[in-house]
Amino acid sequence: MVTVYINDKPYEVSENKTVLEVAQELGYYIPTLCHHPELEPIGACRICVVEVEGARTLQPACTTKVSDGMKIRTNTERVESAVKFNLSLIMANHPHECMYCEADGRCELQKLVHMYDIKPIFGVNVDMDKEIDISSPSINRELSKCIKCQRCVRVCSEIQGMNIYSMVDRGYESLPETEFGIPVYETNCISCGQCAYLCPVGAIYEAPDWKKVLNLLNKKEPGKVYVAQTAPSVRVAIGEEFGVEPGTVSTGKMVAALRRLGFDYVFDTNFAADLTIMEEGYELIHRLQNGGKFPMFTSCCPGWVNEMEKEWPELRENLSTAKSPQQMMSSVVKTYFAQKIGVKPEDIVMVSVMPCTAKKDEITRPQQLVDGIKVTDYVITTRELGKLIKLKGIPFVNLPEEQYDSPLGTSTGAGALFGVTGGVMEAALRTAYEVITGEKLPKLVFDSVRGLDGVREAEIDIKGKKLRVAIAHGMANVKRLLAEMKEGKRYYDFVEIMACYGGCIGGGGQPKNLDPDILKKRAAAIYSIDELSVLRRSHENPDIIKLYEEFLEKPNSHKAHHLLHTHYTDRSRAVRKAQKQQEKVN
Ligand code: SF4
Ligand code: SF4
Ligand code: SF4
Ligand code: FES
Repeated sequence: MVTVYINDKPYEVSENKTVLEVAQELGYYIPTLCHHPELEPIGACRICVVEVEGARTLQPACTTKVSDGMKIRTNTERVESAVKFNLSLIMANHPHECMYCEADGRCELQKLVHMYDIKPIFGVNVDMDKEIDISSPSINRELSKCIKCQRCVRVCSEIQGMNIYSMVDRGYESLPETEFGIPVYETNCISCGQCAYLCPVGAIYEAPDWKKVLNLLNKKEPGKVYVAQTAPSVRVAIGEEFGVEPGTVSTGKMVAALRRLGFDYVFDTNFAADLTIMEEGYELIHRLQNGGKFPMFTSCCPGWVNEMEKEWPELRENLSTAKSPQQMMSSVVKTYFAQKIGVKPEDIVMVSVMPCTAKKDEITRPQQLVDGIKVTDYVITTRELGKLIKLKGIPFVNLPEEQYDSPLGTSTGAGALFGVTGGVMEAALRTAYEVITGEKLPKLVFDSVRGLDGVREAEIDIKGKKLRVAIAHGMANVKRLLAEMKEGKRYYDFVEIMACYGGCIGGGGQPKNLDPDILKKRAAAIYSIDELSVLRRSHENPDIIKLYEEFLEKPNSHKAHHLLHTHYTDRSRAVRKAQKQQEKVN
């Protein structure tokens, strides 16, 4: 421990921390822009400057480590003038068009400009001719708004290991560009949206499908049925959009808000997560009992599917063929549910609310069509749902708690776990163990697969048969694990992969939040849903049992395969290049 003085008050603090970390923990406000708690600090924007006694110049709080006896001042006139000057310089190179910007209302720069009352003293000099990159179904890039904080570059390399961007040019000319400036969708980008999640302004943002959804709900067509589904991790994060304490479960209010937006039915993707466990769990059991490709990998994360097809196509047969819960739900809605209510599949408009930008990409895959029909019509993120609720003036925090619609609204605690890293594994193990042994699990919670370590492994004893499992999240961790498996250093039977750090609770479409403990809070909320559930095993879900009895026959049946399973292709760089050349020839 060391003693530091902040604005003359002494504090005992742990060494090895930065001035910013210590000040924030003690409740002092220091403005930031390039800093993000998930990333290594780089001290690029100099918005976080403080006075440190003995130092000639102001010091960036995000990169300066505390030391014994350090005297720090956060609130002097000199500090305030420097912050204002630095903000004015940024604003001289940033368009002043907040009312047209996707980040309006949640932009970190906009907030600071209001807080420090910044006026355009240096004029505005912005190259608005920069083309907007809308090549990706998941993210848009509008680099005329870039403030050069490099968060996108850092998250894409440090956390995701993808290295899609690098800063090109110097000073105020510098921008995060792709290799040779090609559209982002033509790179190895996996559509995870982490760059959009961390961008503090409106330079990278999720493809704004909320506009299409707003339009279709404003002009509902007679005879059409409007259905929404909500992913497991949306309910533990949507409240943050309305100032609710992080980690609060807002399921009932979210369902109520969707009804007030105009949806006729609101279904729970957790139901489809239970269905995924039935299909994927039985696939694992089948491979264990009859042989098959090992290790088997989970397939519910479209960011991971993109990564596998683009960089590890030799693993195509190792992935479970089960579709993601989003796509299973939509397939069941446009077949089983459509029959139940007597409408044609094409008269159902299916909207998913997801924590995920890669899900926007997933619905464009040709192998996701069912009998030629696109099953999910639109995907909006948690942030986009927040925006729609605000635009419509729906008083989220005062809404009553409402229930999901039946019959696709019943779910178990196992389904809820899909929202957090390790959750799919835990849910699958609960079902696999009980189906294989015919006995109840002695302990339902698998502590060894929980937590936020980037790679976790465990050996599960299923009545004498040892099942070796691993979990990886955050694509940089995933790549390390896969490389070691390829070298033969590690071997597993079953591996869960989530592209985003923390799993979907940290998905690219979740509310932006600078709380360093945000993932722990959202994870705790997910686990609380499981603990409070009456049913905690997917195979005990009565509506799932009924769905098989009435429609799908049994897990992995011919019909289930037709509706609920998919296949993968080789989309490696070489294959994409050859396809492009072929297109040119044609
Ligand atoms: S979407 Fe993900 S992979 Fe693609 S550029 Fe952004 S962070 Fe990198
Ligand atoms: S695009 Fe966004 S995250 Fe990337 S450098 Fe620019 S402002 Fe920062
Ligand atoms: S971890 Fe979740 S949010 Fe992230 S890409 Fe995968 S499915 Fe989407
Ligand atoms: S937040 Fe510290 S230099 Fe940018």
